[in-house]
Parts: sequence; C-alpha cells; structure tokens
Amino acid sequence: MRDPQSSAPYLDAIAAYGSRGSGRMHVPGHKGGPGADPGLRAAIGERALLMDVPQGLYGVDLGVDITPQLRAEALAAEAYGAQQSWFLTNGATQGNHALTLALAPPGSTVVVQRNSHASVVDGLVLSGGLPSFVAPAYDDALGIAHTVVPEHLDAVLQATPAARVVFVVSPTYFGVSADVPALAQVAHARGCALVVDQSWGPHFGFHPDVPESALRQGADAVLTSTHKMAGSLTQSAILHVADGSRLDVSAIDRAVRIVRSTSPSSLLLASLDGARRQLAVHGEALLERTMRGRAGLIEAIEASEGLVLLGPQLRGAEGVHDVDPLKVVLDVRGTGATGYAYGQALGAWHDVHPELATDTTVLLVLGPAERPDDLAMVGIALQRTATRIAADVAAGEVDADTPRIAEPLRAPTSETVIPPRDAFLGPAEAIPLSEAVGRISAESIAGYPPGIPALLPGERITPAVVEHFRSLLEAGARLHGAQDPSLETITVVKG
Ligand SMILES: Cc1ncc(COP(=O)(O)O)c(C=O)c1O
Repeated sequence: MRDPQSSAPYLDAIAAYGSRGSGRMHVPGHKGGPGADPGLRAAIGERALLMDVPQGLYGVDLGVDITPQLRAEALAAEAYGAQQSWFLTNGATQGNHALTLALAPPGSTVVVQRNSHASVVDGLVLSGGLPSFVAPAYDDALGIAHTVVPEHLDAVLQATPAARVVFVVSPTYFGVSADVPALAQVAHARGCALVVDQSWGPHFGFHPDVPESALRQGADAVLTSTHKMAGSLTQSAILHVADGSRLDVSAIDRAVRIVRSTSPSSLLLASLDGARRQLAVHGEALLERTMRGRAGLIEAIEASEGLVLLGPQLRGAEGVHDVDPLKVVLDVRGTGATGYAYGQALGAWHDVHPELATDTTVLLVLGPAERPDDLAMVGIALQRTATRIAADVAAGEVDADTPRIAEPLRAPTSETVIPPRDAFLGPAEAIPLSEAVGRISAESIAGYPPGIPALLPGERITPAVVEHFRSLLEAGARLHGAQDPSLETITVVKG
C-alpha cells in the first residue's frame, strides 16, 4: 500500500483548483493572475497566483467530510509523532502567542527561559501571565548563550511552586540542543508541562546525524518553524502537542484561532504540506546529501587559516547536549577581524551571505537538500575571504581594534514587579535613560549578541541595567526592541 505520507492533500487540492479554469467569483481580486500587476506576475509566476485562493472553497474546504487542510495537519502530526498539529501562517511567533494565551492565563506564573524569542514575552503581554525566568548556560569567551541546564530549571521551579508550565528553547540559533529528556523529567516531577520552542529544528529526528525531536523526548508542546530549516515558505510554521501529553488540546486550538488571520495564505499552507511530505518521505536521503556536502565544506574551513569550526569543541560544555550539523558556526577571531567585518567581506567579495555575524563568529545555515558542489563553492569563498581579510588586517586596511562588545549582563537581573501585560498596555512615558533608575520598564530591550533581554516590560530598572546599556551602545551593539534605538530615552510605566 502506498505510504499516506507520500500524499499532500492540501497542496493537491489547491493545485487542482488552480489548474481547472474555475469561475473565480471570489477574492483575491487578482483572480488568479489577470488582476495582478504584470511585474508581480512575471516575478512570481502565474502558477503561484492561480494557487492563491481563499478559505471556504467548495470542494476544498466545503462539501467534503474531512477538509484537505485537516488531513494535511493529521499527516504532519503522524510524521512528527504528535497527538495534534496546527499549520501556522504567521510563523512560530503565532505559535508562541497561542501557547502563552492557552497556557499562561491572567495572573498565572510560568517559568520562561530568559532569552526566549520575543514572541513569548509578547504572548504574556497578550495573556496576562507572569514570568519567572530561568537563565541559559552562557559561553563567556564567545558571547553565546546555550540552553537551560536541568539543575538550574529544577532550582527555579523549586522557588516557583505555583508554576504549571515551562517554556524553553532548543535548539538555539547556533544549533545547540538541550537535554530535553532531563528537562521534561524535571518539569514533570514539579507538576509542570514542558513547552519546547524547536523553531530552529523542524528537521530534527529525520536523520541519524541530527538531534532527536523534542516531541519524542518528553516535551508536551513543540514549535517547529518549518520555513527556517525545512522547505516551506517564509512565515509558515507548525505547532505540535505531543502524544500522551495531558495539555488541553482544545484550549490550544481556540488560542491558535484567535491569533490567526481569517484569510490564511493558501500558498503558505500548501508549502507546509509539501515540506512535511518531503521530510517524511525523502528527508533522510536529502539530509544525507547535505551531510556529504557539509563534509567538503568542513575540510575547506579546516584548511583556512584563521577560521575555527565551533561545534565539535562545544560538546561537553554546560548547556550543550547535542549540536545540529546544519548550523556551521565559525569563530573568525583568528583572522584578526570581527565576525561583522568577515561576514561583510564574504558578501562583498564572493556574494556569499551568512545567516548571522556576531562580534566573534559567523553563522552559516545549511538546508536539508544542499548540493555538494554548491557547498564546495562556499568553501572556496570562505578560504579566500579568510586569507584576504587577514592580509588586509595586517596591512591596516581593516580595523582589527573594533571594540569588542562588553560582557553581556547575566539574566535574570531585574525584579518583575508588575505583569508584562500591565506594563506594556498601561499608561507609559518616555524619559531620559539617565533618569530611569528605579522606574518600571514598559518595553523589552536586548543587546545583540547574545540576545538575552536585559530588560522586559514590568521589570524595575536598576543601575546595573543602565550601565549595561551604556557599554553596549559604546561597543556599537545592536539593541533589539528599544523604541528609541539611541536609548537617549526609555519608555517606562507612568507615575
Ligand atoms: C527561537 C525562536 N522562536 C520563534 C521565532 C519566531 O519565528 P518566526 O519568524 O517563524 O515567527 C524565532 C525567530 O527567529 C526564534 O528564533
């Protein structure tokens, strides 16, 4: 019998509608192409416009026993090993909003990894939940945060007996995954559900050389940002509740609905259906090809003076349980340049663009279906850039003395005195940073890297926080979330 995973019911349903010349007396107004700007039509192609259809079409969403979207979501649940899965068209951001709304009701306490994605604290602004933070392990030399260590989580849970849910991130942006089985054990022993933001690991569990998915390691709910590391279109993601979890699936279902558009993009939904099929049916073989290409890339990196591949030597460090081979993290300090300068040179000289550059590193993201030849080309670009930039640094043409970013403030540092919701939605005013000590923040501000928020809505502003902002500004770090990026002013709760 044909494996049901090799079908893509939603993709097939809208492709069929798009190709049969139906009378399109419905939105969108481009009517499958004729009403679209010719430039757009030429750029994205008529097929994409033909498949851009609304919800509620007869034969797609109406007049069928089980809609193709529900069948597609059930196939995703089966492929990932979930009890139930939801397709999201506003990214993993939508998933975090839905999870906080469903699991962190007004006045409830939840334990949250301090450097969780902004959408978790934004979700608490929506829901009215109160966070108690657990810090991730931190690499001082590289300025990179890793994952939450089970013993730290246990200590925070012991001090927060009212908490019933824990939100952690695994893997990190840099591909480091947490000891999810141990985190789940700790959370469950303290009567809490474990939510894992696995946005960076939609491919986890689909090849023996990539880490296992948190869904199969005891997590209760898991978010996968399918567009990041798998084959779906930007802004699409999947939220899963694990088999055997006692989370209230209907509460999550309701929450997913209130944070979604009434007109979700059929293209995004179809791309999720296709990405799931590709991972389920061909994932292992495609990832195998990526691994082959990666081996060549690593050889080129190892032969490059000044470049060090991080990953192997991270193993064993606190907060590093496993490492995703699809994240290639280079320590570029040996070239004499910062990661920013190296990343810019790579783009300018070879048209190769990294995912991220930091003070000390450059991060390259591999996909599940890389062609070895393409990665060989990237390897050559990395090598040549390293040689040329080292020569330029030696000749004084690149400023090797760019100030390094001050040591990031360790979180949690500030006391949460009112719920993020009250701080964010209540009356607020912008005041000079120099007058902010003692006031309650109405905004979130994180220096990048490492992206650990130094201040969140509802927290009291301390002298150490103000000092930290000053050193970040001096070092030229990027500040995420600040309403006034120069930080001459800061938005605080009024009164
Ligand atoms: C850990 C984590 N969670 C959630 C998100 C939000 O994902 P999306 O961009 O799909 O909304 C991100 C985005 O970078 C992220 O890094």
